[in-house]
Parts: sequence; C-alpha cells; structure tokens
Amino acid sequence: MKELENIKELFTTAIANVKTNDELNVVRTDFLGKSGHLTTCMKLIKDLSAEEKKAFGQEVNTLKVFVSESIDSKKIELENKAIEEELASMPRVDLTTPNSGESGSLHPVTIIQERLINIFRGMGFAIEDGNEVETEYNNFEAVNIPKFHPARDMQDTFYLDNGQVLKTHTSASQNRIMRKYGAPLKAIFPGRCFRNEELDASHENTFFQMEGIMIDKDISISNLIYFMKTMLSEVFEREVNVRLRPGFFPFVEPGFELDCSCPYCGGKGCRVCKHSGWIELCPCGMIHPNVLEMGGIDPEEYTGFAFGLGLSRLVMMTYGFKDIRNLNSKDLKVLEQTRIK
Ligand code: DAH
Repeated sequence: MKELENIKELFTTAIANVKTNDELNVVRTDFLGKSGHLTTCMKLIKDLSAEEKKAFGQEVNTLKVFVSESIDSKKIELENKAIEEELASMPRVDLTTPNSGESGSLHPVTIIQERLINIFRGMGFAIEDGNEVETEYNNFEAVNIPKFHPARDMQDTFYLDNGQVLKTHTSASQNRIMRKYGAPLKAIFPGRCFRNEELDASHENTFFQMEGIMIDKDISISNLIYFMKTMLSEVFEREVNVRLRPGFFPFVEPGFELDCSCPYCGGKGCRVCKHSGWIELCPCGMIHPNVLEMGGIDPEEYTGFAFGLGLSRLVMMTYGFKDIRNLNSKDLKVLEQTRIK
C-alpha cells in the first residue's frame, strides 16, 4: 500500500541520519509512539473491506517489526561507537613492553622486625605498638628515672612545647602496656626512638629498638637467661650462648649487659665480634619493683624480666652495614643489599 511504502521510505531516511541516542528516541516516538506514523496509519483500517483489513493489518505489523528491529540495532551500533570512541581517547598501554625487573622492597629494619615478631608471636607474646611522642612521665618517671636523676643525661632528647618528649627508648611503653594488660604478661614492643646525639657511624638521632617484658609469678634470672638464649638462637638461626655482665639501668634490679656468642664465627673470633668471640647485644634485667608498682602490678606477688634489643644494631650486624646512618638514608645502593629478588 502506498501509505505504508511512504512511511517505510521516511523511516529509512530518518534512521540513516541518526547520530545520537536522543535523535534515535525522537525517531522511535515519530514512528512507534502514540501519535507516530504507524499508529496513525492503523486508523485507516476502518475504511477498508474485511479482506483488505487482513492484508493491511499484516503489512503494518511487518513494517512495525522492521522499524523496531532497525531501531534496536541502531541503538547497539551507537553504544559500540561510544565505547570505541572512549577507548580511542584513553592513553595506550603496551602490555608487551618488557619491564625493567625493578621492584620495591621492604626496608632492612622492617625485614628484621617482622622476623622477630614472628619468633615472639610463636612464643605467645603480645605484639604492641608504642607511641613515638610520649609523656615525660612514661619515658622517665614510670621507669624509675625521676627528675634530676643522672640517667636522664644519657638520654637527652627532643622536648616538645607541650612538655611531651620524643621517646628515648622503647622502655617508655612499659607502663602503658602493664596498665593495659596487668599481670601475668608477655609482650614485645618494637619502636623508633630518638636522642640528642653527637652523630657518628654508631650513633644516630633516630634508631630502632625492640623491648620485651615477661611478668608472672616466680620469674627469675634463670628464666631470663634461658629465654634470651632460646630467642637469640632463633634470631640467628644457630645455637648461641649468652653471658651476663652487671649493667646499670634504673628500671631493672639487678641489671645486666647481655653478650651473645658471636653468631657469625661461632665464638672463634672474627671482624664482627672484634675477635673477642662475644657481641654485646641486649641490656636486660629483673624489672624493678618500683616500675611494677607504677604499672599497677603488685611486686610482692609478681616478678618479671625486661630486655631492650638494639634493633638497628641487629640489622647492621645482619647485613654488615658499617654506618648506622645508612639505615635512615635514602641511599638505594645500601638499602638494595637486602632486596628480595
Ligand atoms: N632502655 C634502655 C636503653 O635504651 C635499654 C634497656 C636496658 C631496656 C635494660 C631494658 C632493660 O628493658 O632491662 O638504654
């Protein structure tokens, strides 16, 4: 029928010109909408004979199907075009380019610290994180270093305007942790420490320690010795011996300097142990009753030991760094030595 042919021709031209979704919607309404061409032309049907009605109805339907299928495929065509355009505007990445093989790595201090944490976790210790900015009370008073005690001289640090300090040792967290857990207690707390130091190859204003405390009923020096020997043998992955020399630290009584048989030469004498067979590694001692008391723990009922491992020193020994300042430097040549390839 002429009418329908006209509509088809009109539609073919209209759809060919469509460039956007909005234009497509207009075409859809123009042809399939309530007052669109196809709907209006159905009104002609009432003037036709019964036979003509049937044929006309079929033709209109066929045209309707053609129109809506054409609109659907135009929609897909427009969507694909939009995706292609978006892709074309994106920066191109060539996934086949060979990479340089360079990748980042953990800092040597982090590597050793993680290893220690794993060892202590296996022994049932809680792993705690201490503050870097501490109250003067926690850093000094709470570990039995009252104001004007000469021990403060050895640990001069950076005082903030609000009276707090950059912590000079991980012992500063002892009080907080004792108060948090009470007794019995097994915890380690690695941390960054700060001191006002004259800098040289073995002194740095920023360095790392790892403190440990173990508090329970009847803890004695024998426990301390056994524990340190086991722990250091794990750290160095070989059997080591330990020996204690008297050492003074206000927060332990008795206090010791703990030496470990040189893990590198097995005690025979080498460059690392300066041919003495021993390495001074870890001051320690039995926690002073005042410190327990200030931590809210009854010294009549509980005893305990504490140790302060020089983490930076241990890292230097492990990797053979000669200058502690390398640990805080950005020198990749130094830090790369520990890169896990
Ligand atoms: N806090 C001490 C320092 O930095 C190290 C230390 C010594 C820690 C003896 C301890 C200890 O827990 O028992 O010089």
